[in-house]
Amino acid sequence: MHYTGLVNRYRSRLPFGPEVKAVTLNEGNTPLIELVNIPRQAGFEGRILVKFEGLNPTGSFKDRGMTAAVTQAVHEGSKAIICASTGNTSAAAAAYAARAGITAFVLIPDGKIALGKLAQAVVHGAVVVQIQGNFDDGMRLVKEVAQTAPVAIVNSINPYRLQGQKTAAFEIIEALGGQAPDYHCLPVGNAGNISAYWMGYKEANGQKSTATMFGYSLEAFADGKLPKMAGYQAAGAAPFLRGGRVANPETVATAIRIGDPQSWDHAWAAQKESGGWFDECTDPEILATQRLLAETEGVWCEPASAASLCGALRDIKSGKIAQGSTVVCTLTGNGLKDPDIVIQGGLKDLIQVAAERSAVERAILAKLR
Ligand code: F0G
Repeated sequence: MHYTGLVNRYRSRLPFGPEVKAVTLNEGNTPLIELVNIPRQAGFEGRILVKFEGLNPTGSFKDRGMTAAVTQAVHEGSKAIICASTGNTSAAAAAYAARAGITAFVLIPDGKIALGKLAQAVVHGAVVVQIQGNFDDGMRLVKEVAQTAPVAIVNSINPYRLQGQKTAAFEIIEALGGQAPDYHCLPVGNAGNISAYWMGYKEANGQKSTATMFGYSLEAFADGKLPKMAGYQAAGAAPFLRGGRVANPETVATAIRIGDPQSWDHAWAAQKESGGWFDECTDPEILATQRLLAETEGVWCEPASAASLCGALRDIKSGKIAQGSTVVCTLTGNGLKDPDIVIQGGLKDLIQVAAERSAVERAILAKLR
């Protein structure tokens, strides 16, 4: 069967009747990749798997929410959508608006967005509004403007966004043969995604239907087990660790440079109900994990995404995450969006030689020694 995106695949679990036409780029259905080298090096006898959301059409998990939000907006007759963004939401909004033939207005923080993400908004023809402020300012402005302007908000305060994003939990359960993992780790910024995953796990778990979904009976999902949800923030932008809003969030992980998360209550509920926790990672820790994953597993995620694995590895080391358990880390975005961060870290293996066989051979032999 040809895969046509998550709205069609999970329609019975989404608020879309059969008459609603999906605006889709065939998002979702991303791989759950088992890490083979890092667990061994960490002395971990359980499993660590990464849900690589960077392989969505615009390179981040935002496509899951955006297909749902834009599908609904178009169904309601909207001609324009608007969002504030640290870069990925705007990239997704721009692409799905292009697909639907409507206008996307995106408010982005001045200068603090990865170049690839800015290019995405531009190439898909969005109206890009750079504000002299941060994401939290943008979010406030979007809410104010949408009170009067005929634009549909597609930030995660739009409930359709989280509906779309919850499908990642369904895919993970399917990939694990009908079971949830023991722990689910993810980066937290605006806190929509952790809320969406928790909703997805709970819904999958509570469902009592005999209908089959891609080989697994839905009943098989209802095994009573839910993961502990661990949310990791960048230390300079960690309102969940500080107990409230952070006025001037700062981190190299620009995607999660957010001080005033909109899904505050939902995220706390996910943490409390699941028996999970929030923790923080420093910028050097985040970048080191991004490198580790790329160099030892061949998976390149963006800095914000690495916070999930960074926190998980620390909690495995401390024993907070139990030996022998199954851990899923969401890698929210693709490393290709932000090559600057890697280049800035230095080109340690770049060797410059003359365009001569002997020079190239010498360079290779020196490295093999
Ligand atoms: N990882 C990446 C790569 C992101 O782009 C975001 C959020 C998050 C993690 C955090 O997810 O907000 O649901 O807690 N990016 C938003 C944006 C804010 O505008 O692209 P969250």
